[in-house]
Amino acid sequence: MTELTEFITGVPKCELHLHIEGTLEPELKFALAARNHLTLPYADAAEMRAAYDFHDLPSFLKIYYEGMAVLLTEQDFYDLAWAYLIKARAQNVRYAEIFFDPQAHTSRGVPFATVLGGLRRAMLDARRLLGLRAELILCFLRDFSAEYAMATLMESLPYKEWIIGVGLDSDEKGNPPVKFAEVFARARAEGYFLTMHCDVDQENSTEHIRQCLDVIGVDRIDHGVNALDDPALQAEIAGRGLGLTVCPISNGYVRGDLGHRAIRRMLDLGILVTVNSDDPAYFSGYVTENLLALHEALPLSLEDVRLLERNAFEIAWLPNAVKDRYLAELAAFSPS
Ligand code: HPA
Ligand code: ZN
Repeated sequence: MTELTEFITGVPKCELHLHIEGTLEPELKFALAARNHLTLPYADAAEMRAAYDFHDLPSFLKIYYEGMAVLLTEQDFYDLAWAYLIKARAQNVRYAEIFFDPQAHTSRGVPFATVLGGLRRAMLDARRLLGLRAELILCFLRDFSAEYAMATLMESLPYKEWIIGVGLDSDEKGNPPVKFAEVFARARAEGYFLTMHCDVDQENSTEHIRQCLDVIGVDRIDHGVNALDDPALQAEIAGRGLGLTVCPISNGYVRGDLGHRAIRRMLDLGILVTVNSDDPAYFSGYVTENLLALHEALPLSLEDVRLLERNAFEIAWLPNAVKDRYLAELAAFSPS
């Protein structure tokens, strides 16, 4: 291992863009299918992996939603989250803000409480047994209606203490941020932090980022790489200290390029850019692999890596005293 790969492997990390359903590895799909008496249309995990064929956001989302059919019971959601949290701990993720897509489950008859209960129980165990702190971000599916999003927000309110913020994901085409202005205003009033996906190279990408800033008033943006296409947006994001959660390997799949030049530029401009894993079971890479891929494409210096993680802890929705502890741990880190 070079000094830099050793540094990337060991550095204390903060993951801010990870869909828990995107961590469902084929092996776990088979185990859950067997437990739930379901048959999958593949002979084994290797055959399933070989059939993953996506080149843009819609082709990925089709496979992503199909894969969730095996998630039915509270224990299934526990097992999904626990498997991720163990992997994250092994990569020295110290803190994670994790997306979940309740409507991908309630829309097929799985109760909200079943989903949340299983995820939350695994996160409590991770805090106690692994020393890994994590929070949940409820994502609305933007290709469903604003009314369904509002109903989901209302359903979440009794569990407010277990949900740190809300986000917006799924297919962006024809589903701009303003479609959900009322839902996000209510979420804000209820005390949730706000973020939204602005996926890479979408129709009206810069207009959607503009709406996030001016209409929604987001606390950060997921992806948001196209902000660099518009000097005013770029300046405003830098000036406001708004964080971007970028996912290089995922961008490589849906865009054909890791977005490494954009990340380099954002680092140089002082934009609070971070590196994250999105849907690692589908894109074959958790956060360490994303940092390694970025390094291979750029390269990165050791202090660039430390800065990327510092940005992530800085924009995390953590109490300041806790944040300062992680930042001190990161500043003191050296691999030897
Ligand atoms: N973009 C939009 N929706 C998603 C993603 C993504 O990267 N991952 C899971 N759902
Ligand atoms: Zn995402």
